[in-house]
Amino acid sequence: MSASSSGNSYRVLDLFAGAGGFSLGFDWAGFSTSVAIDFNQNAIDTLVGNYSDKKTVVLKEDLSKLTPFQLEHKLSKENIRINFDVIIGGPPCQGWSMAGRGKIRSLTKDSGPQGPLEDPRNKLYKRYLAYVRHFQPKVAVMENVSGMLSHSGINIADLVAETFEDAGYRVTWKKVNASEFGVPQSRERLFFVGIRKDLNLQFRFPETILKNGQFKYPTATVKDAISDLPAITHGSKDWIKNYIKQTGTSDYAKLMRKDAVPGKIFDHVCRGHNEQDLAAFKHMKQGDLYKDLPAHLKRYRDDIFHDKYRKLRWSKPSGCVTAHLSKDCYSHIHPSQTRTISVREAARLQSFPDSFYFAGSMSSKFQLIGNAVPPLVAFRIATEIKKQIFSIQRKSKATSFQEVEL
Ligand SMILES: C[S@@+](CC[C@H](N)C(=O)[O-])C[C@H]1O[C@@H](n2cnc3c(N)ncnc32)[C@H](O)[C@@H]1O
Repeated sequence: MSASSSGNSYRVLDLFAGAGGFSLGFDWAGFSTSVAIDFNQNAIDTLVGNYSDKKTVVLKEDLSKLTPFQLEHKLSKENIRINFDVIIGGPPCQGWSMAGRGKIRSLTKDSGPQGPLEDPRNKLYKRYLAYVRHFQPKVAVMENVSGMLSHSGINIADLVAETFEDAGYRVTWKKVNASEFGVPQSRERLFFVGIRKDLNLQFRFPETILKNGQFKYPTATVKDAISDLPAITHGSKDWIKNYIKQTGTSDYAKLMRKDAVPGKIFDHVCRGHNEQDLAAFKHMKQGDLYKDLPAHLKRYRDDIFHDKYRKLRWSKPSGCVTAHLSKDCYSHIHPSQTRTISVREAARLQSFPDSFYFAGSMSSKFQLIGNAVPPLVAFRIATEIKKQIFSIQRKSKATSFQEVEL
């Protein structure tokens, strides 16, 4: 692990930390999450379960209420250092994708206590920036849904970047597809990386496609991700199952097994389904959608629900793993078993290793997983930040899974 000016590894504050996927990737890259904050009890239990031995301070706080000053005070009382090198976070901002330019501008710029800033959907983004302003880390990294990218031809991300600039940060943003970072899932998200202006640096996202058209990082498919897991039936509730190592396991699966309890797999549980669904799942071929079903197997209007069901393909990355899995898992039907995916399979598709613990009910686990930044994406970005901003001359261009240090 590398040393910072203060003698420890680079210190991260994770806001809206959720399960800690963002943090995990930074930790893999040699950073250290000092403080992680969320207000959801299952997120807190998950963070404590995975990070307590790393000395991360996990705080259950409502960030819409806790001010940066109050956090500083709280941490100082506990003798916890507040000199964060990086602040990461994915504040929920559902409002943006539907807003128009004038509205966005007024939402993202200070416009007084009575102004549209009071829109609760944008308050959390403002709060994230207030933390950045207050603690002045060298680097601020924010993740958000790509829906904010463009609305009626307006580039909302550029407007958001302006507000980072106003806070004293030089920003680069990019729409990132997790599948290009080695995650077996097509997932598009926006990442903003702001560098404090006095450092006089501009972050460059890693190129994912080489000049010869090949992907820089090894890509992974659904088969790579989950085919080594034991077969289960729908409704399986065995929270601990035996895991038998297969020959020919993919590099990706080997990465996922690193530090796992030998011979055991946790959370390989899935939803139960009624006969009608099971008949539909059985009929579907890999890649099929709801609209491809014959009429007698349909129970919804297919003009509205044409892609409600989606069967995974072994040979491709999966579709986006979202928190909607906590409601139903029809978007991720197993490619060869008559069921939807298990919690552990969803975690694998998000690049959470098998050693990672998720708290709460099955729905809670799906939600935590679906909300997370895939740790492998966070790792690749964090590695590049370390190389470019913290000038660490260690192996930072992991091009094979073996080079990813868990
Ligand atoms: C998109 S998730 C973050 C996922 C996380 N970055 C990860 O990689 O696992 C957003 C998180 O914000 C939390 N959250 C929403 N509003 C909050 C608030 N007012 N205070 C604290 N946490 C909040 C939610 O509980 C949720 O865990």
